[in-house]
Order: sequence, then C-alpha cells, then structure tokens
Amino acid sequence: MSSAKSRWADNAEEEVQRKREKEEKKRAKLEKQRQAEEEEVRRKKAEEEAAARKDEQNREDSDRPTKRRRLSHDGEDSRTKEKAEQPRKLLRFAAPAWGPCRHVDNFERLNHIEEGSYGWVSRARETATAEVVALKKLKMDNLNDGFPVTALREIQTLKESSHTHIVDLREVVVGDTLDDVFIVMEFVEHDLKTLQDSMSEPFLPSETKTLMAQLTSAVAFLHSHWILHRDLKTSNILMNNQGEIKLADFGMARYTGDPPPPNLTQLVVTLWYRAPELLLGAKTYGFEIDLWSVGCIFGELLQKEPILQGKNEVDQISKILTLMGIPTDTTWPGFRRLPNARSLRLPPNPPPHATKPNIRRTFALLTNAGVDLLLSLLSLNPDGRPSAAEVLDHPYFKEDPKPKAKEMFPTFPSKAGQEKQRRRDTPSAPKRGEGGKVEFGAVDLSGLFGAEREEGGAGFQLRMG
Ligand SMILES: Nc1ncnc2c1ncn2[C@@H]1O[C@H](COP(=O)(O)OP(=O)(O)OP(=O)(O)O)[C@@H](O)[C@H]1O
Ligand SMILES: [Mg+2]
Repeated sequence: MSSAKSRWADNAEEEVQRKREKEEKKRAKLEKQRQAEEEEVRRKKAEEEAAARKDEQNREDSDRPTKRRRLSHDGEDSRTKEKAEQPRKLLRFAAPAWGPCRHVDNFERLNHIEEGSYGWVSRARETATAEVVALKKLKMDNLNDGFPVTALREIQTLKESSHTHIVDLREVVVGDTLDDVFIVMEFVEHDLKTLQDSMSEPFLPSETKTLMAQLTSAVAFLHSHWILHRDLKTSNILMNNQGEIKLADFGMARYTGDPPPPNLTQLVVTLWYRAPELLLGAKTYGFEIDLWSVGCIFGELLQKEPILQGKNEVDQISKILTLMGIPTDTTWPGFRRLPNARSLRLPPNPPPHATKPNIRRTFALLTNAGVDLLLSLLSLNPDGRPSAAEVLDHPYFKEDPKPKAKEMFPTFPSKAGQEKQRRRDTPSAPKRGEGGKVEFGAVDLSGLFGAEREEGGAGFQLRMG
C-alpha cells in the first residue's frame, strides 16, 4: 500500500511540477506578448511624433512669422507668443510720389502780380482744369553750383507746412531751361501790405485780433516743426476774401535745431522787421527773431503803417531804441558783447527815462493787455519774448472786443486779380550772398537820448529838460 501510495504521491508531485512549469511558460509567453505590444505602442508613438515634427518643419519653411516666433526669447509671456503667432501685416508708409515735374505750359498766365526780389509771381490758369493759381518763378542764383539750396529750402519748408494759415503749395513745374523752376500755389486775393495801403482806416481792433491769432498759429506751427521763417512782414502775409490769412514767401525759411546750428546767415529778415540781436550781429539766433517780426506786424496792423521804418541798419537800431528804450545790463545781459554793440556809443549810464519804452504813448488806443503783448514781442532781449504758443494764450485774445469771426470780415477788390502792380516803395528782403556783415562804424547814439521827452500814460509822466 505504502509503495502504491508513494507511487501515487510521486506521480502527484510530478503532476504539480509539470503544471507549475506549464504555467511559468504561459506567464513568460504572456509577458513577452505584453512587452511586444508595449514596444509596438512606443514605436507607433515615435513614428507619429516624427511625422508631426516633419510637418511643423515644412510649415516653418513656408511661414516666416513662425520662424521668427521660434527665435523669440524664452522669457516672453504667452500673450506675446499668441500675438506673434498671428499673421503679420506689412506697415505702409506714404512714400513721396516722385516723378518728373510737369511743364509750365500746362498753365496759362493771366497777369503779373508782383515782381519780388527773388522772382516774380503771376496769376495763372491751369488749362486742363481752369483752376486759377499763383505761379512763382524761383530765382536760380549760382546754378553752376547745382540746384540752389535756397530754392530747395523754399520748396521743402513750404511742402512740409500744411496748415490752414499757410499758403498751399500745389506742385513744382519747370520750363525749358534749368533756370525755369516755378512753384504753383493756391491763388490768394490780397496781401496785407497792399490791402492796408488801399484802406482808408486801419483794421478794427477785433479784426486785428483775428489776424494776429491766425498769423501766430501759423508761426507756432512752423516753430513746432523746427522751421524759422526769417522774413515775416505784411507783404508776405496773404489774405483771402473769406477772412483768412495765409503765410507765404518761404524764400528765407530754413530748418533749425536745439541748439540752433552755428553760423546761421546774419543778413536775414527785411530791415523794418529785423530783430535788434540781428542788427547787432548775433551769430546764433532762434525763433525769437520771428516773434520780433510778429511784434512789428502787430504794431503795423494797429497803425496801418510799418512802425519802424529805418533807412539803413544804423537808423533802424536807433529807431528801435527810441521806441523801446536803451537796453541795460539788467534788461538785456550780455548785449554789449554783441559784435556791433561795441560800435554804438550808448550813454554808459542812461537816464532812467531813456531806458523806458514808448509803447503806451505810441499806441494810445491799445488796451493794457494789448500793450503788455506788444511790449513782450518787442522785448530787446530775445529771452524776454514769448513763444508763438504763449502768444496764443495771452489775455489780449480773451478780452473784449473778442476776435471777429472770419465770416464777418469785409471783402475787398483784389488788386492781385487785375493788372501788374507797381513796385512798392518799401525795403526788400536781404539779397542772398550779400555777406552778413553790417558796417556800423562808430555810431554815436548818445544824443538820441539826451533830450527830454514827454511820455504819457501808464500812470507816469516823464519830463526832462
Ligand atoms: N499765392 C499767392 N497768391 C496771390 N498772390 C501772391 C501769392 N504769393 C505771392 N503773391 C504776391 O506776390 C508777392 C511776392 O511774392 P513772394 O513774397 O512770395 O515773392 P518774393 O519774390 O520773395 O518777394 P519779396 O522779395 O518782395 O518778399 C506777394 O507780396 C504777394 O503780393
Ligand atoms: Mg515776399
């Protein structure tokens, strides 16, 4: 029995052993299968990733912005990345339309308006459109040195100056020779000089205010664009029959900077409108020279005639000092160091009355605010003059009478619309290339201020004698 049991037992043991081996084999097979499956999954995933990378690579090759995005800094935030992913639009700038200038023959000349010092101006009609325009022939000095810089500046500064109160430059046209270059402008019926000459009374205070505000807004525009006009005067201020002035004649204009360029031409601005620092030979000057001219124009509008009509430079400075008083080291520090100041024999200790301006007596009808504005514009010391923007803020423009609405301006018959004007008996803008040195010699102005004068107004009276 025991051996049978044992045999049975042996058999049973073998059986168990066989089963165990069989199961192990089965487990190993399953494990192998699982590993094969896992491997298959990994391979597929790798293949997919590779395909995706290839796809992206292809996109990048044809899509520059994506490439730029990948080059961007790692630190940039997701918003920037999103932005960068959007397709980019090209920025478009208005490029100047370069092209050949049209021929002046496209215009039919109607009449001469004025022969200025640098060219002539005529009224003309564009044949194709029948539009009436003004044609100004530019003076072409020293053509051997190339296109004159002054003509270039006139075109360039006027082209940049698109403003309601600055004459509109339409185009540049040419004739048959290099000498024939013309600017085509809107035609404006009057200039303030010719208009005032034909008026029996000066402009009303409310009209003067409107004209001053318009002029100053044009000057403020120029100065904010770094342009010096350098020839502000009534004959360069045009006026249409809609009560609007248009600043013109950019023949002396130029760009400036901060600080102003050295060696600016000293011989600028028509004598009667020329600032004292220019007359005294200042080598650098700024926007203040235009503000002096604005002061002269203000006075001229009030009086209907130019206020400082010097016969020459010396006479001009003496007229200025008679109106505005002698500068002192306090009112104009450093003026004695200006080149021409040394030749002026000014009294070393001028009597107090001689240093006081005569504005109040000369402009007896002007309000206190008006006097204050005129005094500041005609400050001998350039630093004492307001900027054009400050002028516009002056109480003079806010007090009564208020500036007249331009629609309410009277209209006048246009002389420019008729036949050639006579040459006016007024000084011209300085000639280009005339040097810049004003010969003062030894000028004794001490006598000017020795005699006593009577000054009324402003609560003081001066009596010398
Ligand atoms: N656009 C215009 N429309 C009508 N008249 C104009 C126009 N431009 C100029 N004028 C007239 O022609 C005159 C001379 O023009 P402008 O001042 O531009 O020339 P200029 O030769 O530089 O003159 P000047 O040397 O006398 O200052 C002006 O005073 C004005 O009467
Ligand atoms: Mg002029």
